[in-house]
Amino acid sequence: MEKKTVRDIDVKGKKVLVRCDFNVPLKDGKVADDTRIEAALPTIKYLLERGAKVVLCSHLGRPKGEVNEKYSLNPVAESLSEKLGTNVKLAQDVTGNSAKEMAESLNDGEAGLLENVRFDPREEQNDDSLALEFSELIGNDGIYVNDAFGTAHRAHSSTEGVAHHVNQAVAGFLMEKEISELGAVLESPEKPFVAILGGAKVSDKIGVIENLLEKVERIEIGGAMANTFLKAKGYDIGSSKYEADKIEVAKNLMRQANEKGVEIILPVDARIAKISSEEELTTDNIENAENKKVKLHTEQEVQEGKAESLEGWQILDVGDYTLDYYANGLEGAKTIVWNGPLGYTEVPTFAHGTESIARFIAGSEAKCVIGGGDSVAAIKKVKKVAKENGENPKQFDNIYLSTGGGASLEFLEGKKLPGIEALNNAEKVRNQVDTQGAKNMQHEIS
Ligand code: 3PG
Repeated sequence: MEKKTVRDIDVKGKKVLVRCDFNVPLKDGKVADDTRIEAALPTIKYLLERGAKVVLCSHLGRPKGEVNEKYSLNPVAESLSEKLGTNVKLAQDVTGNSAKEMAESLNDGEAGLLENVRFDPREEQNDDSLALEFSELIGNDGIYVNDAFGTAHRAHSSTEGVAHHVNQAVAGFLMEKEISELGAVLESPEKPFVAILGGAKVSDKIGVIENLLEKVERIEIGGAMANTFLKAKGYDIGSSKYEADKIEVAKNLMRQANEKGVEIILPVDARIAKISSEEELTTDNIENAENKKVKLHTEQEVQEGKAESLEGWQILDVGDYTLDYYANGLEGAKTIVWNGPLGYTEVPTFAHGTESIARFIAGSEAKCVIGGGDSVAAIKKVKKVAKENGENPKQFDNIYLSTGGGASLEFLEGKKLPGIEALNNAEKVRNQVDTQGAKNMQHEIS
């Protein structure tokens, strides 16, 4: 069901509570990556330009319901002030006196920010008393806007509960864009459709694989999660990390894929490092360990003396033959979904697979939807290099970078996200307050 958005409402002179996902990395008290702040700007600017009194809120990190300076939104308020060219006041609390004073002090077209909503233990419990306090900050004719797609999979007071205490609860432009981009690949993907899945755990991706098996022609699997699949197929993975309790799940997924005619592509070679146990798998150790490229063999081949055992070694990246297979599979694809790194990207030697896939995707004409921090970072790196080399920036137009990690995965699993579900449904005939203005904003964020 389509959701109402900011373009469906009149906000002039009204207080608008906007839930953003400002959960951004910090370094030395400053915002280290402002992607999520930039992504929230179209909605904020749209509301400010139309004379709303904008009360922003977000979580940052996991302070576990306690006030902790380390997780203050102060650096975000500074970054917002700079980007908006106006002072964004930061309240000292979430819904207390300082928050109330801040909300009351706003003039039309001004914005303020509440302190980290997770400083209040009631937030993550979706406590109704906190939800009510959020709604009281904006008064009886206040409007709630959820633009925090990255947190839409959490049913918390500021993402879900508050929507039940206001007359109007609508999606921001970022939320709308994410729903439309991710929704399109699930509902009407152009074929062939290929998914690339990486990351540490099969357990994180079971739901996604199950849902995508109904839609894709091919799934390419890398990262430590591939080790569990390889083990399930009887491959020697040496001392590599894998999930012993997910072997049966992996076998079952491969069986299902086979029945549905979906190809599952696993690594055939790898770059390995001489590290004998999971406990020793630290960035320092990996940087200093001996490493080499090898072809992968079955345990039977090892037992028969046809191949050397990988005992004492760990698979930390996919190899070149595997990348060739992956690339062949992407050729001609019309839709690609990528989530999760294919190797240990913290150490450059083992980031080769992930970076290569990012380059293949940049060269592809398919509609691509990318989620997850490492995959998004790899694409951005390729984009930066392309820009420095003066290449055509249009080649990235077909790539959508989702701001959601866990949220985009749950969306791709086909789950209903509570932060989206709680919003008002769009009426059949939209009350288009300012269609052209909204279109311009949409253009800015795409
Ligand atoms: C994220 O970074 O994925 C979101 O901000 C959600 O954060 P959380 O996993 O701490 O709920």
